[in-house]
Amino acid sequence: MANDSNTPEEFSSHLPGFHKLDQAARLRKVAKLSQLDDQDLAAISGTSGLSPALADHMVENALGVFGLPMGLATNFVINGRQRLIPMVIEEPSVVAGASYMAKLARAGGGFHATADPALMIAQIQLLDVPDNQAAQSQILANRERLLAQIDDLNPSLVAHGGGARDVEIRTFSESPVGPMMVVHLIIDTKDAMGANTVNTAAEALAPELERLSGGRARLRILSNLADRRLARAWCELPASALASAGMQGEDVRDGIIEAWALAAVDPYRAATHNKGIMNGIDAVAIATGNDWRSIEAGAHAYAARSGSYTSLSFWSATKEGSLRGELELPLAVGAVGGTTRAHPTARANLRLLGVTRASELAEIMVSVGLAQNLAALRALAAEGIQHGHMALHARQVAMAAGAEGSQVDRVADQLVKEADIRLERAQALLEAEAVSDNG
Ligand code: MEV
Repeated sequence: MANDSNTPEEFSSHLPGFHKLDQAARLRKVAKLSQLDDQDLAAISGTSGLSPALADHMVENALGVFGLPMGLATNFVINGRQRLIPMVIEEPSVVAGASYMAKLARAGGGFHATADPALMIAQIQLLDVPDNQAAQSQILANRERLLAQIDDLNPSLVAHGGGARDVEIRTFSESPVGPMMVVHLIIDTKDAMGANTVNTAAEALAPELERLSGGRARLRILSNLADRRLARAWCELPASALASAGMQGEDVRDGIIEAWALAAVDPYRAATHNKGIMNGIDAVAIATGNDWRSIEAGAHAYAARSGSYTSLSFWSATKEGSLRGELELPLAVGAVGGTTRAHPTARANLRLLGVTRASELAEIMVSVGLAQNLAALRALAAEGIQHGHMALHARQVAMAAGAEGSQVDRVADQLVKEADIRLERAQALLEAEAVSDNG
């Protein structure tokens, strides 16, 4: 494999038996496959990472830090490149689901993904504009000067190939406070998420836009509907790869397409369907210190762009009988600056991913979203979602009841066997163990 970052030659993300190792052995394996230093590994394992002192600089009234599990999704091949993907999420089955689907997708060459340039939108709302037509002509006649003014604010962004790209105007003849105009500044923020750049530009240009329009500027902020910054992924799986106990691959493929079709027409299902996609995308966003709320906002607004909320993904059968999946959504993510740099674990995770460009991170995230969607649809079309969930849920219930070490698996297995996954039952099993140990 080509090696253009932190991953050694001959690296494969297919790691059979990885899930059976204990945590220490998994970390040793990751250390061997990556070029993470001891500090990175400590941050990833949770022995260091975000300290209360660092947290104190990040939010107001900091009391401490809050932990979440971080798992490693294996098997991913994206644009021909092997990727090990850190995911931060409290929900069982998500990391396993992504890894399993990435394994199946390998049979069709893995995931293919592209990401648009990092074009962000700043909005400046103008009220009481006396003459829309005249304001529009004035603003557009000064387009080059306005763009230069933005670039003057961001010399280092411009030096890295980013900068102001366009000025657009939208008008609303009606609103709860009367007619209004909104100016969009389009700025390429390159490898940063770009919120600061865009918000600074909106505030800096508002007085000039007031002058040119004769109106009054109110709101000056980025739009989270970053629809100039889309990422898309697709994959094709031979039907044979989908065969599962008792079901032919073709039946699973058709079941997946039927299950997806409900999300295509029904917002009640689309919300759940898209939530499954975001399970994967958010988990990588959090692991890399990205703002998952802005990604969520953009994704759901994009899902409603036609006027009715629908599925973000598209599933079909190819002429050859393979299952084809496609996913497209806005992904305003950064690989530099902000929390991606300040948070030691986010920094280590970006190194583990081997990512330095925001577009590359977006390509990984959209691929994980597609894998996650496939995992949910496959399970729903085949054995049902609870089958896989139950074993992991039982482990959480066992731990909540106080099971430790090898007790966790023992109690969880018993709960599943009895199909009675309740806290009270887990507590009773632990008490029974304690009695027999003492007696
Ligand atoms: C659960 O977190 C996500 C799913 O509900 C997604 C789906 O139904 O497609 C399983």
